[in-house]
Amino acid sequence: MDSKQWAQPLSKEPKALGKYEVLCRLSTGGMSEIFLAYQRGIGGFRKIVALKTILPDTRGHEDVVRMFLNEARVTAEFSHPNIVQVYDLGIDNDMLFLAMEYVQGCNVVEMVRACHSAKQSIPMGFSLAVARDTALALSYAHSFVDMRHRKRPIVHSDVAGKNIMVSYDGTTKLLDFGIAKMQDTSPQAFSGVIKGTKGYMSPEQLLGLPLDGRSDIFSLGIVIHECLTGFRLFHESSSEKKKTSILNRPIPLPSSLNPKIPSPLDSVVMKALEKNPYARFQSALEFARALENAAGEHIWRAEQVGELVSQHFSQRREQTRELIEEVQARLNDVTGQIQLEGFFNKNTLEEAALLENNPLEENIPPPPETADNSAPPAFVSTTDENTLTLLSPEQLQAESPPSPPPPLAVHSENNPGRSALVPIPYPPLEKNTQAPPSGEAEYKTNPLYALLANKRFVFVLAALLSLGSLLSLVLLLI
Ligand SMILES: Nc1ncnc2c1ncn2[C@@H]1O[C@H](COP(=O)(O)OP(=O)(O)OP(=O)(O)O)[C@@H](O)[C@H]1O
Ligand SMILES: [Mg+2]
Repeated sequence: MDSKQWAQPLSKEPKALGKYEVLCRLSTGGMSEIFLAYQRGIGGFRKIVALKTILPDTRGHEDVVRMFLNEARVTAEFSHPNIVQVYDLGIDNDMLFLAMEYVQGCNVVEMVRACHSAKQSIPMGFSLAVARDTALALSYAHSFVDMRHRKRPIVHSDVAGKNIMVSYDGTTKLLDFGIAKMQDTSPQAFSGVIKGTKGYMSPEQLLGLPLDGRSDIFSLGIVIHECLTGFRLFHESSSEKKKTSILNRPIPLPSSLNPKIPSPLDSVVMKALEKNPYARFQSALEFARALENAAGEHIWRAEQVGELVSQHFSQRREQTRELIEEVQARLNDVTGQIQLEGFFNKNTLEEAALLENNPLEENIPPPPETADNSAPPAFVSTTDENTLTLLSPEQLQAESPPSPPPPLAVHSENNPGRSALVPIPYPPLEKNTQAPPSGEAEYKTNPLYALLANKRFVFVLAALLSLGSLLSLVLLLI
């Protein structure tokens, strides 16, 4: 299923926000809009980002602004492969915006819908991989220690399929820390109103009690229960009925709705969904490892997850590619070189331009064809500037001094460009690589010469002779 609403063209929306140029709208959420945008920099630098802004009609609401700023503040220091990276918080014409890593792919709700439309069940391996990786992201947030080594455990408080994205390369990314809080604050700490996604809140969240990481474990338990079974867990029509159901209704075993679920996995999901937080997994890491142990080889690898996302969202992927192509074409100018002039000397800039226009490979002829490639050719003839010709030893002797090989790209300052290529001067032959005269060679290969050339040997010989003479003299005297 490829959403038709994805990548809506811009009408009266901003064309730029701060240093970012807006390409299209990706989504309109409860309180915010997400845009695809890019940042243009010097030296051909460009970065695609997702921009989150507050919806126009909620802009004046102090509470919404506070949540928005909270998201930036909470996630600014985060660095985890399964959490969307936030880069920047800015303001343009009274419009606050958050720049973050753009995740190419879909969110879990979109994947569930895509599988449903294709009349397929959501593959168990996909659900397990996504749940495990989200649990790892939560574990990081719950045990977060900031750069000043202060413990800052963060509770997400809005874990739901729409806030979990999966990319075309199979990476899971948790996003939307808008209502995230320091552990042990209550869900209405900001406004007196309980926040979270209906049908995904933990019992303690619904009751307005202080929260810790176990609340997120419950919410993730609902997500995985739904993915494994293909059914909404708390599907009641009103918020009040949902609340009653979460607080009181017994939760069905996943295997009662999908017989393919192995019983160890049933136990793990049910433990995450215990209404009493003390009966649940006490940490998200424990939950992640329990999922891995129960799932065994059922859990999908990233490439399998990515394959499923790519399969269902190929049209979206293609649209993104076209958009990016458009940007590349629009940005193919000389902006970078002009701005970088001050950093390089004139020659470097000219060389860079020359290489860009005439790739080095074009100037190097293909390797010569030899009968025996195992032995490297000794020298080459360069009568024709553009070809390399192997020389026989006889030819080599005749050719004196050796001619230079074909040119590598070095340009003359007077004549820049392809026609200005001149050969690099070929280094003279090293003296010690020349063959010695034949007589001398014979002499040096004689073993006696080698013995006499050895200084230690000569010294020992002289000492022995002196000792012998001394002994003879002593004997004579006696
Ligand atoms: N960084 C991103 N890269 C790609 N898509 C994104 C990104 N951030 C958000 N989205 C898309 O926009 C949707 C809404 O984002 P987000 O949850 O941050 O906004 P929201 O206002 O809280 O929305 P909601 O009320 O639906 O949760 C996500 O479900 C996702 O599909
Ligand atoms: Mg959201």
